[in-house]
Amino acid sequence: MIVYRTKTDLTGHLLSLQNEGKTIGLVPTMGALHEGHMSLVEKANTENDIVVVTIFVNPTQFNEPSDLDHYPRTLDQDLELLRQLEADLVFVPSVKEMYPEEDTHIFDLGSLDKVMEGKHREGHFKGVAQIVSKLFLLIRPHRAYFGQKDFQQLVIIHRLVEILELNLTIVPCPIIREKDGLAMSSRNTRLSKEDRKLAPFIYETLVQAREKKEDLTPSQLKEWVTLEFKKQSELNLEYFEIVEDKGLMSVDEWNTSVNKVACLAVHLGEVRLIDNLNFD
Ligand code: PAJ
Repeated sequence: MIVYRTKTDLTGHLLSLQNEGKTIGLVPTMGALHEGHMSLVEKANTENDIVVVTIFVNPTQFNEPSDLDHYPRTLDQDLELLRQLEADLVFVPSVKEMYPEEDTHIFDLGSLDKVMEGKHREGHFKGVAQIVSKLFLLIRPHRAYFGQKDFQQLVIIHRLVEILELNLTIVPCPIIREKDGLAMSSRNTRLSKEDRKLAPFIYETLVQAREKKEDLTPSQLKEWVTLEFKKQSELNLEYFEIVEDKGLMSVDEWNTSVNKVACLAVHLGEVRLIDNLNFD
């Protein structure tokens, strides 16, 4: 495994691999790696000759400076994990390396970044699109791996590939959960012991909501979920939406041919958690 810190060194190596006809799989991350990230690397390993993992805490996608300051950074541990997984190349650039000057690229994501995460984290997806486009254009992978954990991000990345007209396959990967159902996240390490015990309520409520689909309309279900969270004073529901999985428009009836996904964000202590569940 080789760790690169500059674009020039990385692209130099990639060019020779591309000339040899090797297929390249990219796994972009912000580090603090857990089994969710590892599942992406493992999948990439089975489908490509070379796997490139990037570790970069991208400042332009953080709308809260304190979230950026507190974002966990565990580089030595991350590199050890990636070595065990037999990743080939790891790219760990500095902020200056990725943003030598202020980034002026603004992608028009239409309505995709106006709802859910986009509504509550202003500018977040503009930042994600900026960094992911830079990584795509720099690394020129054949496939790139993204988790369904960040469902809205995944939809936006598909759109980004269309905008950039790249010949690149986006590979969606299932959500990896703890035994008690909590979706794995780098932010889980910031939960207090007490809050960690409360956190599985999020997934439990999603599963129960899906079971109630037969009896309630989408808007009644939204009310039910809102009430369930009101009973849990520690868990502060920011939004709960049931959307179709392409344009992220809210669904108001079940009997449609579109795939439906229920998405939510919750504040627990200092930590903001997101999760989602397929509702088909
Ligand atoms: P990060 O939060 O580090 O996540 C990196 C990738 O791992 C994303 O595709 C995310 O969806 C996936 N992932 C995280 N938790 C997961 C889980 N429990 N199960 C499956 N996949 C999971 O997402 C980002 O970084 C950034 O926005 C990035 C795309 C790297 C751009 O900066």
